[in-house]
Amino acid sequence: MTIPPIVFGIVLILHFVGLASLLGGVLVQVKDTIAGKGRIIAAMIHGALTQLVTGILLVAFIEMGGGSINNGKIGTKLAIVLLITVLVFLFRKKAAAPSWVIWVIGAFTLANICIAVLWH
Ligand code: HEM
Repeated sequence: MTIPPIVFGIVLILHFVGLASLLGGVLVQVKDTIAGKGRIIAAMIHGALTQLVTGILLVAFIEMGGGSINNGKIGTKLAIVLLITVLVFLFRKKAAAPSWVIWVIGAFTLANICIAVLWH
């Protein structure tokens, strides 16, 4: 069964919205993070979960359509997003997260963008 292109497209757009939410969440916390007062905010949590769900859906759609998946690339992206998800949930209740946590979430998000675009 092949997924209609419009459905694939909408999920891919949601994948970009999740990316915006996750990276945007980190960017608005940069100033506070430098001051040691950075927090995990809802945009990061929702962004991480959106990337997880939409990413898995995209993989399923590609498989259903008979397309090929680069397992190394997708496995790496999945491992990175799982690490981000663990970090956001571990530190979400804290008044301030350790600064390294926010930097790691930002760096891992950027790493996944690089992997998505540059790894063929
Ligand atoms: C922070 C997490 C993530 C970020 C920043 C991210 C970023 C991106 C970007 C920028 C694209 C579009 C570029 C392209 O198609 O070459 C993309 C596509 C894609 N992502 Fe992600 N991604 C993340 C997590 C995931 C996860 C966890 C999975 C799967 C388990 C996944 C699966 C996919 C797939 C299958 C596509 C390709 C769609 C296509 O071929 O048109 N992504 N991702």
